[in-house]
Amino acid sequence: MEIKITRADHLKKKPADESELGFGDISTDHMFLMDYEPGEGWRNPRIEPYGPLSIDPAAMVLHYGQEVFEGLKAYRGRDGSLYLFRVRDNFLRLNRSAARLCMPEVDVDSAMEALKKLILLDRDWVPRSRGTSLYIRPNMIATEPHLGVRPAKAYLFYIIIGPVGAYYKEGLNPVKIYVEDRYVRAAVGGLGEVKTLANYAASLLAAEEAKKKGFTQVLWLDAAERRFIEEVGTMNMFFVIDDEIITAPLKGSILPGITRDSVIHMVKDWGLKMSERFLDVDDMIGAAQNGRLKEAFGTGTAAVISPVGQITYKGKNYVVNHGTMGELSQKLYNEIVAIQYAEKPDPYGWREKIA
Ligand SMILES: Cc1ncc(COP(=O)(O)O)c(C=O)c1O
Repeated sequence: MEIKITRADHLKKKPADESELGFGDISTDHMFLMDYEPGEGWRNPRIEPYGPLSIDPAAMVLHYGQEVFEGLKAYRGRDGSLYLFRVRDNFLRLNRSAARLCMPEVDVDSAMEALKKLILLDRDWVPRSRGTSLYIRPNMIATEPHLGVRPAKAYLFYIIIGPVGAYYKEGLNPVKIYVEDRYVRAAVGGLGEVKTLANYAASLLAAEEAKKKGFTQVLWLDAAERRFIEEVGTMNMFFVIDDEIITAPLKGSILPGITRDSVIHMVKDWGLKMSERFLDVDDMIGAAQNGRLKEAFGTGTAAVISPVGQITYKGKNYVVNHGTMGELSQKLYNEIVAIQYAEKPDPYGWREKIA
């Protein structure tokens, strides 16, 4: 794939204080784009100065929501080199999301090549302190101007990148979550298992209401019965009850998280009892009441492992592990981060050095 590169005339000022990076506000100097045209497939791959897109007001993404995206990171290792973590899995998931939304797939190798070129061009933006990284947001949108409801014929795929710090202001301090028993995020058969804007739009009101009450995130229950635990806003959830580590099975309504998959791999590798099974919220609360719920934590690219210190359900608060980070959560965090930042050998083949 021949990528045409147009460099920015003026480079932006890079953030001076890496401890103040936050999440999702800063973009680098360049972005990658390519267009999909009927009969031609993906064409015109290019890297351009970061800037606004120009799209028709009738572009179908703005009306019927044909959009899919990904979220992943590049890390600056202890040795100063740049690394990606399970990037192929992100592009494979993007393609599964695209197929569900009747959108064209991208060639995974070409997308990875484009991403690496973009990162290398803006490599000075990758922050240096541990816990910071370069966040990568691939996005695909329907650009065909048309107001009848059907899949679009033309699309834009683009990748933007930017330096980030912690996703939650709590960092590794345990978060408080609110078990949502009124609103629903996604039903089996719908879009819950793919990464598309509708799922996030559906989650906003519940998340805002929970935030006003002092919670970091909501924990979603299944749409049919509001009984089985699904996932949290942008994380999959794990519970340690007695010696069993439990996470919700991939049955269509939750996102198959790549961090979730890494955690499952690691704990099985360590010989621990790992179950992908439905967990009734009443059973989880019962375990919290009688001291059998040892740990609860979320997993996701943004926070890696986010310990849960308090769960609130039907007006009652349940403290988990005395409100502190559990042993397993801490071990998982340490091991995954050590692989990502190339502080340890990677026995799983997840890390890729790009420069
Ligand atoms: C709804 C949802 N669940 C789970 C996750 C965690 O997925 P991953 O580990 O691939 O980042 C995310 C973040 O991408 C998400 O948005």
